[in-house]
Amino acid sequence: MAEPARLCVTNQKGGVGKTTVAINLAGALNDRGRDVLFVDLDPQGNATEGLGLLEAYDAEPPTLLDALVDPEGVPREEIVYDHEEMDVVASNVDMNAAASTLAAEDDAELRLDRLLTSLESNVDGDYDFVVVDCPPHLGAVTDNGLVAAQNLVIPALAEPTSKRSLELLFDYVGALEMDHDVEIEPQALVANRIENTNAADEMLEWFEDALPETPLYRVRKRVAFQRAFSAGSSIFAVEEENDMREVFASMAETLDERLTGTRLEVSA
Ligand SMILES: Nc1ncnc2c1ncn2[C@@H]1O[C@H](COP(=O)(O)OP(=O)(O)O)[C@@H](O)[C@H]1O
Ligand SMILES: [Mg+2]
Repeated sequence: MAEPARLCVTNQKGGVGKTTVAINLAGALNDRGRDVLFVDLDPQGNATEGLGLLEAYDAEPPTLLDALVDPEGVPREEIVYDHEEMDVVASNVDMNAAASTLAAEDDAELRLDRLLTSLESNVDGDYDFVVVDCPPHLGAVTDNGLVAAQNLVIPALAEPTSKRSLELLFDYVGALEMDHDVEIEPQALVANRIENTNAADEMLEWFEDALPETPLYRVRKRVAFQRAFSAGSSIFAVEEENDMREVFASMAETLDERLTGTRLEVSA
């Protein structure tokens, strides 16, 4: 069977919509019949909360941190939680120690890759997609997401500060590619929380020029995202009609077409 396509939703800037995009992209993939494993790598556990799994965030060890330290050693039922739309590797308060804990380990950036390989091979019927939600900073935890997934979904606000955050992200990703001899590809750029302003229009043009090969999606500011978050699901699992469903559905369709599940081996 084909290996799952892995997606890493990342941008080191906080509050740009990583968690919102990750949850709703996972919901869109599920809505088109795909089996999704969601991974909340952010020590703050926002996605874990937005998927209604706060009890997992406060659960006793073993947690995701133990599984990153010993990727083949933690039973999947300790870290994988059921959700109506997807399976979820929940974050946990212990993840606040992840950067310092991983710093003491060899091949610290390869731990999520190993954990995913072990979770993927240990389930009835493979997952089609793994969606990883990253923390709002660069470092050991985000490195794990980037190296494991190698496919980027990049949310960015349609405002001028996004120029520099994308430049920093691409410089960083370039260095990581060299270190690990992998290719990390932007697969989707998501202009998020768009409002009707000239500044937003100019930024949308800038995005198109900056990444001409990468599909650009336009997600508008909608309170429905917050309501779905409070209800513990994506916008696809709530009754309310929402015009942003079609944007996420088209993102899911294109990713489905582009990604065949082939991945390069990573090296330390
Ligand atoms: N398109 C949107 N419309 C309205 N609110 C949004 C939208 N995208 C994100 N938000 C809100 O903005 C805040 C930050 O989004 P979040 O996804 O948590 O960002 P990040 O994960 O990058 O820190 C959250 O309160 C979220 O509900
Ligand atoms: Mg987040």
